[in-house]
Amino acid sequence: MPDFSSNFNALLDARFPILVSETHEEPRLLNLIAPVCNLRGIPLFIWSHAEGLKRSNETGAVYNTTEFTDALKHVDVTPQNGLYVFLDAHPFFNQPLNVRLIREISFDHYRRDRTLLFVSPALELPTELARVAARLNLSGIRPDRVRALLKEELDSWQRQHQKSLRINHDILPLLVHQISGLGEDEAQRLIRQAIHADGELNIKDVQRIARFKQDQRASLLEMTLPEVTLDDVGGFSRLKTWMKQRRAVFQNPALAPGLPVPKGVLLLGVQGAGKSLAAKAVAGSWKLPLLRLDFGALYNKYIGETEKNLRKALEEAGRMAPCLLWMDELEKGLSAGDADDGVSQRILGTLLTWMSERDSRVFIVATANDVSKLPPELLRKGRFDELFFVDLPTLPIRETIFRIHLEKRGVESKAFAPDKLAAASEGFSGAEIEQAIIAAQYAALADNTALAQAHIEEEIARTRPLSVIRAEDFQRLRGWAQQRCVTVD
Ligand SMILES: Nc1ncnc2c1ncn2[C@@H]1O[C@H](COP(=O)(O)OP(=O)(O)OP(=O)(O)O)[C@@H](O)[C@H]1O
Ligand SMILES: [Mg+2]
Repeated sequence: MPDFSSNFNALLDARFPILVSETHEEPRLLNLIAPVCNLRGIPLFIWSHAEGLKRSNETGAVYNTTEFTDALKHVDVTPQNGLYVFLDAHPFFNQPLNVRLIREISFDHYRRDRTLLFVSPALELPTELARVAARLNLSGIRPDRVRALLKEELDSWQRQHQKSLRINHDILPLLVHQISGLGEDEAQRLIRQAIHADGELNIKDVQRIARFKQDQRASLLEMTLPEVTLDDVGGFSRLKTWMKQRRAVFQNPALAPGLPVPKGVLLLGVQGAGKSLAAKAVAGSWKLPLLRLDFGALYNKYIGETEKNLRKALEEAGRMAPCLLWMDELEKGLSAGDADDGVSQRILGTLLTWMSERDSRVFIVATANDVSKLPPELLRKGRFDELFFVDLPTLPIRETIFRIHLEKRGVESKAFAPDKLAAASEGFSGAEIEQAIIAAQYAALADNTALAQAHIEEEIARTRPLSVIRAEDFQRLRGWAQQRCVTVD
């Protein structure tokens, strides 16, 4: 990444009339700008609603400039060249007069060297201004600086407390990565908090920081930190091995510089077989924030807006990296509907471009159960690292799933015969097994007795699994997957 001042210099050389900087770190930005202006001999003016327009290093403000409109009028007519920085002017952009004044100043830019820089935590420029504006971003803190800060804070804590801090070394790379890219002040505050919170440095700190980053912005992604792990999933043995082999490299790509960083998997399969559960469990096992992309929330009736929303969401995932991006029920977001004016086609285009170009550590887990609705481009080699097919659980896996769900409900699975239950539930999905246990618990409650093997057996006998009711759909899906996917078990 080019450093801030060369970036700033380049924008000044390119003579953009308007610059925009979205940041919470106003003082840091001003500290970086001032020396560049100084070197180039550009007079620097700073406006705020509280103080009006002032030349930097001077105390007096220009007469009658506390109102944004008045300040702009002044800049419009003044013969004084310079960089005019407006702090927190974003609330005033909804007034047409202000937008017009800014436009006039920018029209005149080729003759008179007055550059406007708007600095706000968040600022959406009106389109007519956005066309002549450039963004000036504060570069975030780099990993080596994070490590240095971490060490400083650690040393100071240990000196103060006369003991060493308990550190889970596995999570340090995660912690450094989560903090990298933030502002320096913010980074320092978060590190301090992490160390002082409980005199330990552990996964909770990483999670807190991930949550903090998420709270910073209104989001199209819903973030959770799942507690389920792959141990809570019965079967999926191939997927588990696959994930295990890749975990270390994903967390620290430097371990294997020649290897591509794992990008993601698609789990295709029958209903209720645990695809969504597996997606959550991968995040839980890898201790990554899980960002769920809700395709429904992206849709917007204005042309172009839906793709823009998707792009924003994907960029956001990039900023949250390392993380797991979960696209649940992918076919619903991408189905080639007939009457959608090509939105799904453009959504797909946006997604494919991002998938092939991104270099951030965002691991995708996509799930789907209706392959006929999935666009073939997405399934081509190289998009996902692997396509896994999730079929109904086999006998031994059903037994495991019974055990998992009995234990989960605080019932000793030893008191039951899970092997018999498994044998009786041919054709059941994991979800149906879980439902049978829940229904049996209700039956036991109604009988006023403890849950017994017989209750569950009765529920199994009563259930007609989906694989029977919709046998043809299941067959079709299997036939399709055999050609194209790796089985998950
Ligand atoms: N292999 C499994 N191991 C343990 N529990 C399972 C398994 N499969 C399903 N379950 C149970 O069933 C619930 C529902 O499964 P899940 O929603 O993950 O299925 P799915 O494959 O995503 O289904 P759908 O295609 O309908 O979205 C899970 O939350 C879990 O409790
Ligand atoms: Mg699901």
